[in-house]
Amino acid sequence: MSSPMDVDVEREQDMRYLQTGKGKVVEREQLLPKATPWVEKYRPQSLADVAAHKDIIDTVDRLTNENRLPHLLLYGPPGTGKTSTVLAVARKLYGGNLRNMILELNASDDRGIDVVRQQIQDFASTQSFSFGAKSSVKLVLLDEADAMTKDAQFALRRVIEKYTKSTRFALICNHVNKIIPALQSRCTRFRFAPLDAAHVRERLQYVIKAEGLDVDESGLSAVVRLSNGDMRKALNILQSTHMASQHVSEKAVYLCTGNPMPKDVEQISNWLLNEDFATSYKYISDMKTTKGLALVDIVREVTMFIFMIKMPSTVRVQLINDLADIEYRLSFGCNDKLQLGSLIGSFTHVRCAMEAAAK
Ligand SMILES: Nc1ncnc2c1ncn2[C@@H]1O[C@H](COP(=O)(O)OP(=O)(O)OP(=O)(O)O)[C@@H](O)[C@H]1O
Ligand SMILES: [Mg+2]
Repeated sequence: MSSPMDVDVEREQDMRYLQTGKGKVVEREQLLPKATPWVEKYRPQSLADVAAHKDIIDTVDRLTNENRLPHLLLYGPPGTGKTSTVLAVARKLYGGNLRNMILELNASDDRGIDVVRQQIQDFASTQSFSFGAKSSVKLVLLDEADAMTKDAQFALRRVIEKYTKSTRFALICNHVNKIIPALQSRCTRFRFAPLDAAHVRERLQYVIKAEGLDVDESGLSAVVRLSNGDMRKALNILQSTHMASQHVSEKAVYLCTGNPMPKDVEQISNWLLNEDFATSYKYISDMKTTKGLALVDIVREVTMFIFMIKMPSTVRVQLINDLADIEYRLSFGCNDKLQLGSLIGSFTHVRCAMEAAAK
């Protein structure tokens, strides 16, 4: 539990960056300690700051302006701005009164059926006093709702209906199929897709400018490529690379994340396709040791490479299937050496099949 003092300090901070109006991001940054991770420092404060998802943001913005916010269900992969969007909506609705008007529960809180029966019901059923705030409808934010027990979800159905007049619910999750259909049908669903490269790049450029970083074009492209549309990952890679080396280049990014460089992947694929088993095994093992590469990263990158080269589709299908099996086994922590053998073995099959097809 936080003491009343803590709450006051937090509230004060919330209000300070809210009252600054334009240029609030800069103001907020000055309030944050220097060591704050960039993912938090550059968390979008208003809906306008949220990159990509233009349609969703426009719709939510309009509904918020008209005070017609429905129950929300936001879902999609990590780091795409779901939590940030709901917090921005809450900030817009309640301003400095934020902490009185929302109940935020996430996976770190216990969210079994008792919490739905007590905490959520208590919050939803109490009268709200919203001096000055635009909206008097409260908001219950259930982050990581896919981790809620089924019983709790069933109990929530009735609570949502009963308190619709005074309370809106915003459910956020990664896997929408873990939310029971009855809850899904009570909410307006929005899917947050992975951010496209252009939006990740644009947001990164904003951070690079704000932090005054020395990043070259290839370095920026590498961060965008490795993030795979996860903005949180992009910011984390950028920050850790910047801490490791002043100049953020492609090489620095790959070194810092431990990912194989594109030219290494090409080299490994060449060995796999052309060298015999023992030679491939030796070369790849040596490269893994000298460059500190993980086999799972190699498998993932080699798969991408396979998609780009020409081979009969039956051979390709079998190979991708084999690579998927290896990746699956690696995720269970199976022996790296055996799996490397299996990887080279799969390619040996490919070569035999290709030679047979050429005859
Ligand atoms: N669309 C976006 N625009 C700008 N920044 C973003 C966006 N999405 C994510 N970020 C950055 O990533 C961080 C994490 O975002 P957020 O917490 O909203 O992700 P999430 O979708 O809730 O992910 P998770 O499913 O893992 O909870 C934010 O603090 C912000 O810095
Ligand atoms: Mg989240």
